[in-house]
Amino acid sequence: MRKVLIPLVLAAVAFAGCWTTAWTEPSINVAADVGAGSGDAVHGEYLARVGDCMACHTVKGGAPYAGGYPFKTPVGTIYSNNISSDRVHGMGDYSFSDFVRVMREGIAKDGRHLYPAMPYTSYAKVSDADLKDLYAYFTTRAPASSQENRPSDIEWPLSMRWPLAIWNRAFHDDSPFRPEDTQSVEWNRGAYLVQGLAHCGACHTPRGVAMQELDLTGKTSRFLSGSKLDNTSPINLRGNAGSGLGNWSEADIVAVLQTGRDSHSAVTGSMGEVIEHSTQYLNDADLHAIAVYLKSLPPRPSDATAFQANDATLKSIMAGSATGPGASFYIDSCAACHRQNGQGASRVFPSLANNPMVLASQPDSLIAVVLNGSRLPSTASAPSPLAMPPFAWRYDDEQVAELATFVRSSWGNNASAVTAQQVKTVRHSLDH
Ligand code: HEC
Ligand code: HEC
Ligand code: HEC
Repeated sequence: MRKVLIPLVLAAVAFAGCWTTAWTEPSINVAADVGAGSGDAVHGEYLARVGDCMACHTVKGGAPYAGGYPFKTPVGTIYSNNISSDRVHGMGDYSFSDFVRVMREGIAKDGRHLYPAMPYTSYAKVSDADLKDLYAYFTTRAPASSQENRPSDIEWPLSMRWPLAIWNRAFHDDSPFRPEDTQSVEWNRGAYLVQGLAHCGACHTPRGVAMQELDLTGKTSRFLSGSKLDNTSPINLRGNAGSGLGNWSEADIVAVLQTGRDSHSAVTGSMGEVIEHSTQYLNDADLHAIAVYLKSLPPRPSDATAFQANDATLKSIMAGSATGPGASFYIDSCAACHRQNGQGASRVFPSLANNPMVLASQPDSLIAVVLNGSRLPSTASAPSPLAMPPFAWRYDDEQVAELATFVRSSWGNNASAVTAQQVKTVRHSLDH
């Protein structure tokens, strides 16, 4: 995810067919500023959690919101900014209109266009009232850090930011969130959070050729229908049984967002970070609203048969007749925890049967977990992290492909086979 904008620099440059004069916007006249000072900074702190500002603006072990988090691209690295309340290096000196512009248009105080790694494409949906509270938090209550911003090491001409103005014109929709009158207050609250501040689509919605999210407002079944980023494959959050959240109850969704686990599944990779920094802090009403909204999304029109329970795999393992290499690797290395029936143990070892991450159309997350292992996110309500050991040292690309293919086609799972080439790509990206 942190490498979301990888091809973006290139794509944006390529996309810009012509020169434009709009590479920096004029800076805003502070005298025209209205509304500053009236926000609720305590509520703003909660909203900063919802927006997960911490995840991208804090380095491990560094001062909160001091920036410097690296985002690698093939042409160089850019670093997130200091957004602490420091008046010189952070946001302390931002006017409210400066803040609105950065959140809704992705244009910094000095007129620089930001890369959409900063999810302003979603933040544009945040209401005026919530922006005021966030502003109050970041300019008064947030910690201050005098850490200097680190310039990107992308070299000219690729460092030019004017193509982003064109990208914005083509893809950015800064219209406010529009509630649906036919839906409940709770549904609308969930839609507002998911499409806006919580920016779930930044990872879960597929992207197009210029790296734009293909649907930002849930108009089509592409919204939240699963994606592929780096070495993970954020799952389909729509109503598909098996490969989506069709079999999940609202309570399951709330449990995962609050604790990182529920009765039949667990969370790995970048979703673990989302839970650690963001969703575990959400109140019950907001988590429930998110669950209600997600449960209302109809299935995407594919993978109707991603899972159909059957006990053929279990029977053949028990009878000793499961003989393919994938099956024997599974029995040797996985069954002790995930069990012969693939169902693991409730709240300890996730079920691999009927698991949307295992069944995702792109197998990247599954491959990454087998290679690198995984650790459940540590949350306030479920603190001691259990680990899954790594297997990269033990199995080569061909063997991991056999194993992953076995897991994706056993116990009723019905997802495409995994190739050694796919494993190689993920292994390479994990090593770099
Ligand atoms: C997914 C990662 C991500 C998240 C989440 C995120 N940001 Fe950012 N933000 C960035 C990156 C990367 C940049 C620098 C982009 C660039 O240089 O083009 C940035 C830049 C900014 C800037 C510009 C600062 C300046 O003066 O140049 C502000 C302000 C900002 N973010 C505020 C926020 C706030 C407030 C939140 C939470 C509501 C937030 N960001 C969440 C990645 C993120
Ligand atoms: C930084 C990228 C990122 C963001 C932002 C993100 N997700 Fe995820 N999410 C992932 C990945 C990757 C997975 C697959 C890993 C897994 O399921 O273990 C995932 C999996 C999930 C799962 C399934 C968990 C399981 O037990 O298998 C749910 C539910 C989910 N996300 C909901 C959300 C919601 C709701 C939001 C917005 C509040 C969100 N995600 C935002 C990356 C992200
Ligand atoms: C020592 C026990 C143990 C062994 C052995 C083990 N796992 Fe795991 N596995 C876990 C735990 C614990 C988790 C949850 C950790 C997490 O999600 O971060 C997990 C998570 C997973 C997940 C992610 C599920 C999800 O919902 O996100 C997959 C896939 C997986 N294991 C596959 C395998 C495979 C394939 C093997 C054999 C190569 C294996 N595991 C061996 C303990 C184990």
